[in-house]
Amino acid sequence: MQYDSATKFSPVTLLLHWVVGLTIIGMLATGIYMAEEGVYSLFPIHKATGFILLFVALARVVWRMKNGWPTPAGQYASWEHTLATVVHWVLIVSTLLMPISGLMGSVLGGHGLDVFGLEIFAPNFSVEDPEKTLPINYALSKLGSAIHFYLGYTLIAALVLHIAGALKHHLVDKDGTLKRMLGKQI
Ligand code: HEM
Ligand code: HEM
Repeated sequence: MQYDSATKFSPVTLLLHWVVGLTIIGMLATGIYMAEEGVYSLFPIHKATGFILLFVALARVVWRMKNGWPTPAGQYASWEHTLATVVHWVLIVSTLLMPISGLMGSVLGGHGLDVFGLEIFAPNFSVEDPEKTLPINYALSKLGSAIHFYLGYTLIAALVLHIAGALKHHLVDKDGTLKRMLGKQI
C-alpha cells in the first residue's frame, strides 16, 4: 500500500478526501434546505446518504491514523500551521459526529432509518395511534439534534477557512498544497 509522501499523496488519501469532502458539502446544502423549507421528501435520502457516509468516514479516520497527517507543502508561519491543524481536526471529527448525531436525533426520536429500501431501524409506532411515532429516548434524541444543528454550522465555518486556506496557498503563496490534493507530484 502506498502511503503519503511530502511530495505526493496516496490515491487512497485523494479518493477518501474528495468522496467524503464533496458528499459532506452536498449534505450540508441539502440538510439546511430541507430543514429550513420543510422539504420532507428529502429526509430519507439525506438520512440514508449520511448513514453510508459514516462508514466511509470511519475508513478515512483509520487511514489517517495509519498514514499520519500531511507534512506542510511549503514554508508556513507557525500560526498558519496551528490553524490548519485545528481546522483539519474539526473537519475530520465532524465527518463522524454529524452522521452519529443525525442518527441519534432520528432513531432515538422514534423515526427509524431506511437505507434506500433496507430497514436498519424500525420506526417506534405508537400502540394507540399507529400513524404516530414515539421517541425511544427523548432527551438523547434532543441532544443528538442539537449537536447536529450546532456542529453543522461550525463545520461550515471550518470549511470556509479550509477552502480559503487552500486557495491562499495556491494563489498567494503559489505552493503545492492544492496541487498535491489534486493528485499531482510537487
Ligand atoms: C472544495 C473543497 C475543498 C478543497 C479545495 C480542499 C482542499 C484541501 C487541501 C489542499 C488539503 C491538503 C492540506 C495540506 O496539505 O496540509 C486538504 C486536506 C484536508 N481536507 Fe480538504 N478540501 C475541501 C473540502 C474538504 C471537506 C468538505 C472536508 C471535510 C469535511 C475536508 C477535510 C480535509 C481534511 C481532514 C484534510 C487533512 C488531510 C486528509 O485527511 O485528507 N476537505 N483539503
Ligand atoms: C455527513 C453527514 C451529515 C451532514 C453533513 C448533515 C447535515 C445536516 C444539516 C446542515 C442540517 C440542517 C441543520 C439542522 O436543522 O439540524 C441537517 C438536518 C437534518 N439531518 Fe443531517 N446531516 C448528516 C447526516 C445525517 C444523518 C445520518 C441523519 C439521520 C439518520 C440526519 C438527519 C437529519 C434530520 C432529521 C435533519 C432535520 C432536522 C430538523 O428539521 O430539525 N442527518 N443535516
